[in-house]
Amino acid sequence: MSLSIHVAATRAFSAALLVAGLISSQAVLAEARTIKDGVFTQAQVDAGKATYDTSCKTCHDMRFYRDALKSWDGQPVLWMWETILGTMPADNPGSLMLEEYTDVVAYILSENGFPAGETALDPDGNMSDISIVAP
Ligand code: HEC
Repeated sequence: MSLSIHVAATRAFSAALLVAGLISSQAVLAEARTIKDGVFTQAQVDAGKATYDTSCKTCHDMRFYRDALKSWDGQPVLWMWETILGTMPADNPGSLMLEEYTDVVAYILSENGFPAGETALDPDGNMSDISIVAP
């Protein structure tokens, strides 16, 4: 009798471990997205290029963003977006629409070799869960 209780307890414990394992691996998957995973759309890139050319191009070249992205390695893309929103264009910070900032970030990522995908970059939704990786 005590053996069967032990077996049942062990099974219950293993099942609990399995469930815990599944939940934590899903949590890890949800957090493990990076800018390599197609986190913006091509439409955002195209719109971002137009904004970039009028509002950013005069002061930065793409080499500059490579270095900036390196310095943001491992940080959420939301933080970089917020920094750009708060400080850029340096001659008129915060002057663009939120959507234009998002599109510009998509354009910068695309120009640095990161792929477009199905899901739009969205500051209200997913950007805090997406990490920057160095290009
Ligand atoms: C009038 C010039 C000017 C314009 C226009 C401008 N910037 Fe900047 N930007 C600067 C200066 C100056 C710095 C700080 C210098 C440095 O970090 O080397 C900077 C820094 C940055 C950084 C680095 C921030 C960090 O902390 O890593 C990013 C990213 C950036 N700019 C993006 C943009 C984007 C995107 C636009 C267009 C919306 C833009 N800039 C427009 C002058 C400008």
